[in-house]
Amino acid sequence: MRLIFLGPPGVGKGTQAQRLSETYKVPKISTGDILRKAVHKNTSLGVKAKSFIDAGMLVPNGVVIEMVRERLKEPDCQKGYIMDGFPRTIEQAEALGKMLKETGSVIQQVMNFQLSDEEVVRRLSGRRSCPHCQTVYNLAFHPPKQEGVCDQCKSPLVQRSDDESQTILKRLEVYQRQTRPLISYYKGQKLLTNINAAGGVEDVFKRVVSAVQKGKIG
Ligand code: AP5
Repeated sequence: MRLIFLGPPGVGKGTQAQRLSETYKVPKISTGDILRKAVHKNTSLGVKAKSFIDAGMLVPNGVVIEMVRERLKEPDCQKGYIMDGFPRTIEQAEALGKMLKETGSVIQQVMNFQLSDEEVVRRLSGRRSCPHCQTVYNLAFHPPKQEGVCDQCKSPLVQRSDDESQTILKRLEVYQRQTRPLISYYKGQKLLTNINAAGGVEDVFKRVVSAVQKGKIG
């Protein structure tokens, strides 16, 4: 299974990628998670990435492409993966295409998650996450059992620095300008499947699994 999850910030890509990863036992590769971990650990990658993430802008292509190139060499990727949040630009997509060609593999399906901007803003404004085990919650739709505390590891939950209202609007604008062109790019390669991301997590997951089965992936 080699999938790409495409869509605006907050559409639910990470939530669905996590579910699918657990169901099909393939890793979820989230460039956002890798970058946030690097920021948290204050590595040289984290130092480079922090100002871009906080401003709601994309981290430079070269940095992210090298990061993914290294991740794909790890043994757990040999049986497949779900790319969550990569590629985000045409340059990244072309670099991924070259990487895959070198190893003789291909992307099987690109799932394009669709949701209104209004709902995206609602989901992002209510998101809280665990900085320790990365579990994601939503104050409105999926609250933790105890307010402000992770159900899994009991760490205090945080709001992502880029989930403040002005930064959310900037990220949506960046998505329209830099990432949306990937829809035509992958449509042209006959890889695109649109997924209606409205409704509850379970409903959306059924649509994702159905798309995987129709594509005979897995
Ligand atoms: P990244 O972490 O990839 O952020 P994003 O694409 O903006 O996506 P999000 O994580 O915000 O949302 P999501 O679609 O995963 O939604 P989620 O499942 O969490 O990137 C962050 C930053 O890193 C970028 O801005 C950039 O700076 C940098 N970066 C990352 N990748 C890069 C790249 N390739 N190139 C350059 N820079 C890069 O859900 C959102 C909320 O909604 C949660 O609270 C969840 O619980 C809730 N929810 C989910 N599904 C539902 C549902 N069906 N109903 C109700 N609530 C739901």
